[in-house]
Amino acid sequence: MRQSILFVCLGNICRSPTAEGIFRKVACEQSNLDLFIDSAGTSAHHQGESPDPRSVEAAKQRGYDLTGIRSRQVTLNDFEEFDLLIAMDKNNYQALIDLAARTSVADAQQKVKLFLDYADQKNFSEVPDPYYGGANGFNLVIDLIEDASRGLLKSIT
Ligand code: 4NP
Repeated sequence: MRQSILFVCLGNICRSPTAEGIFRKVACEQSNLDLFIDSAGTSAHHQGESPDPRSVEAAKQRGYDLTGIRSRQVTLNDFEEFDLLIAMDKNNYQALIDLAARTSVADAQQKVKLFLDYADQKNFSEVPDPYYGGANGFNLVIDLIEDASRGLLKSIT
């Protein structure tokens, strides 16, 4: 059975495209899975843009490819298309819960998850927004997403 997963942050240029690229690779090692993976932002501010070059570079250094990803905003239709909508932080989690209330999809709110609830580490409950910080922030994003991706993969298999 096909499972579809949407990763969500604010701009869809740093954290959620990184999650899309990392989870795609992590899940790829499990070839029996039929997955559709995408990402989106709760804001439309960066609509159509490629991921932030700092995210692209940090991901590349760790063996992940974000080529071809373009920013788009979450839509109400995403609650029909996706089984899980996974937020990078609590603000975006709440934005998705609010959107879910506006759809006619019965289980829309249950589809919304906080990504780091799948992680082993317990120091962070959210993936921190790296946009206004330095390179360390982008590497931390990758550490946290790798951890949560392993947990998410376990939970869906
Ligand atoms: P993201 O990061 O939500 O991880 O894509 C951000 C990107 C852009 C902005 C904020 C966060 N911004 O304020 O433009």
